[in-house]
Amino acid sequence: MSHKKSKTLRTRLCDLLGIKYPIILAGMGGVCGPTLVAAVSNAGGLGVLGAAGLNPIQLHDWIKKTRKLTNKPFGVDLLIPHLDLPPISGKFSLSDLRAFLPAEQLAFVDNLKSEIGIPDVEIPPIEVESELLSGAKKLIDVVVEERVPILATGLGNPEYAVPQAHAKGVKVIGLVGNVRNACRLAEAGVDVIVAQGYESGGHTGRIGTLPLIPQVVDAVRPLPVVAAGGVGDGRGLVASLALGACGVWAGTVFLLAHEACIDSPIDWIFNVGVDPYGLEQWEIDNWKDKIIAATEEDTRVTRIYTGKTARLINNRLIETWEKGEGKTLPMPLQSLLISEVALGLRKAKMRDYISGFGGQIAGMLKERKTAKQIIDEMVDGAIEILRHRIPAEVVAED
Ligand SMILES: Cc1cc2nc3c(=O)[nH]c(=O)nc-3n(C[C@H](O)[C@H](O)[C@H](O)COP(=O)(O)O)c2cc1C
Repeated sequence: MSHKKSKTLRTRLCDLLGIKYPIILAGMGGVCGPTLVAAVSNAGGLGVLGAAGLNPIQLHDWIKKTRKLTNKPFGVDLLIPHLDLPPISGKFSLSDLRAFLPAEQLAFVDNLKSEIGIPDVEIPPIEVESELLSGAKKLIDVVVEERVPILATGLGNPEYAVPQAHAKGVKVIGLVGNVRNACRLAEAGVDVIVAQGYESGGHTGRIGTLPLIPQVVDAVRPLPVVAAGGVGDGRGLVASLALGACGVWAGTVFLLAHEACIDSPIDWIFNVGVDPYGLEQWEIDNWKDKIIAATEEDTRVTRIYTGKTARLINNRLIETWEKGEGKTLPMPLQSLLISEVALGLRKAKMRDYISGFGGQIAGMLKERKTAKQIIDEMVDGAIEILRHRIPAEVVAED
């Protein structure tokens, strides 16, 4: 039995957000539900619900469930990209929605389906609300009404939401991939900037974490900057602090948490992409197994899933699509274009052609753990480096 006294690893981010350790769970859509979020917050980090694609009722429900599981602060992450969409709302079948897609791309996908042997799928009509698709505005209203302590936004500028959030005491975290967008968000009045490097899983920019963080820190000082992209243990956390960040926003490492992916809502709709089923257990296992098997070379950046550059664990669909001449469409039409392919692959359980978002850090993630273990190991590792390894190995005097 260890009788270690309570450990300390604190930065100004902890005081700002009311958390014990400077570790934030990246709000990953479809992954971070109430169970994972509460586990991270209870372990001393900040859990963030991945609410991209939820509707307002589901979001209310998730917030309520999270509050039952933790009394610690937590956040909600939304994607608020600017979308140039036709003003559509109502109940649509897939063939109705195909009318919004160019014939050339539809033909490319039909060819791909027969080349790979992807079966047809019946997709039930989905409810499309143009407001839900184009701005996540109703979801922001839910976060603010519910006074969730933190609103985080990936993809897009949360400027219009900042005054509304601040009026109710909700802090705003904005995610960026370059200095220009960091400055825009700083001007918009966000409270914390997450600077996300190219190594990241999910939607990602072009600048690596190592050069990005100090440049964003310098550009928006004294605003707190949190590092994202490639943080998998205490070493990544300490490196981020050395670069001037006051904490980390970690995604891929938490995909291996037992608590990840288990609250997938039914009717999950990724923007206009049609994905009316939550993930089944075999899909979660396939995803996690692929992360465990991956080396640092096994991720790939592609636009084929959402129309924006996103990093996934590589799979045969990406390879086959990228070999062909198929152009991708802008978000959210690309998700719609690929939905029939994705659902057909899932129906046929063609595991080689299926994987999920994941970052380059996957190469060093080798086992499933609890969220608490992930946080404890990251904190212990960071304390060991800061208190013992660096003082023992580095001679520095002034
Ligand atoms: C599976 C997955 C889903 C993601 N979904 C979202 C999302 O819904 N919203 C968002 O802001 N970022 C999302 N991201 C990006 C993360 O917020 C974060 O920036 C990234 O995971 C950090 O890099 P890392 O994966 O190397 O830790 C996602 C990342 C992954 C791996």
